Amino acid sequence: DDWHVHVRDAELMASVLRFSTYTSRQMLLMPNLVPPLTTEEMVAEYLSRVGIQHLKDWVIAPPTRFYAALFLHRTTSARDIRNAAINPMIISGKFYPDGGTTNSSSQLTSPRDLRLEVLEAMEEVGMVLCLHGEVVEAEEPDPLLREVAFIKYLDWLVTNFPKLKIVVEHVSDRRMVHHVLNLPETVAMTITSHHPFLTHTDALNDPHCNCMPVAKTETDRECLASTVLTAAWTPKIISGTDTAPHPVPDKKAGKAGVWSAGVHASVLWDHFATSGGDDKFEAFVAFTSGNGARFYGLEMSPEMRGEITFVRQRWQVPEIYEGIVPWKAGEILDWRVKGMEWFGITA
Ligand code: DOR
Ligand code: ZN
Repeated sequence: DDWHVHVRDAELMASVLRFSTYTSRQMLLMPNLVPPLTTEEMVAEYLSRVGIQHLKDWVIAPPTRFYAALFLHRTTSARDIRNAAINPMIISGKFYPDGGTTNSSSQLTSPRDLRLEVLEAMEEVGMVLCLHGEVVEAEEPDPLLREVAFIKYLDWLVTNFPKLKIVVEHVSDRRMVHHVLNLPETVAMTITSHHPFLTHTDALNDPHCNCMPVAKTETDRECLASTVLTAAWTPKIISGTDTAPHPVPDKKAGKAGVWSAGVHASVLWDHFATSGGDDKFEAFVAFTSGNGARFYGLEMSPEMRGEITFVRQRWQVPEIYEGIVPWKAGEILDWRVKGMEWFGITA
């Protein structure tokens, strides 16, 4: 599973979708398109475009479930929430701080700017609130401190909406990790496939490692790398890769996002295999295909879930693919996903 994916739209979607559908049988698609997906109708149309592309990508398309998040805007109403919740594929509402990342013009500086009726309706219908958990630049100019500064808003949500299910997306700061672990079980977190392996220095040196929230210090990286390994006994730790492709000119112009979909499974498994304990298999399965599904109430039967086979075979990640630079471009990886041939090499 992948509980945080950007597959974009149109030509870019045609280039990237197949990588995600190779490794995930269910995924949560993010709504920060242009224009943002603020209504049930917009999400439903998007999901049908994704479904059509999926069928084009495969001779026999794997039975993939595409869920989506509704983009929360200052003008979003309780009616918008109830209307979206009728669609079983819309399982969450996503809060973005205005200007905090790609296409995030929500006109919200914090979740407190949402109408209270929106949060009440989400709590009532059981729609999960996914948080881009950072404050806006005007509140905290230093990108390295924007996630820790968000903790007070998370606490406000938990105190005032105790039944609201919340996922803090792409946690990057060790203080946020520890905080979420100490909150009630209504609050979980996604960890991307890149933050456990990157620091702020990587992001400064390589635009293709520049993402939001920015990767933090070595201590934060170590915290994330060790936290994912505990997923077998910590249900709140969920894999959401945040694969976020941008064409090269956009990356050079500073757009944030790591396109990890073609390599994330190999990189993650390598980490579990190298650094995991006796329960490395259980931890990998819990992180990638148990905890998130359970949190969302969307567990799959073993037949639907399918399986993935890793082959210990060194391979070089291409420098570029259809105008997009993959994460780990040019690097040698030790594991391949069996049958994954999209980069031109089949295991
Ligand atoms: O790095 C990121 N890229 N972080 C986000 O929150 C959004 C994403 C994107 O859409 O490009
Ligand atoms: Zn994202």
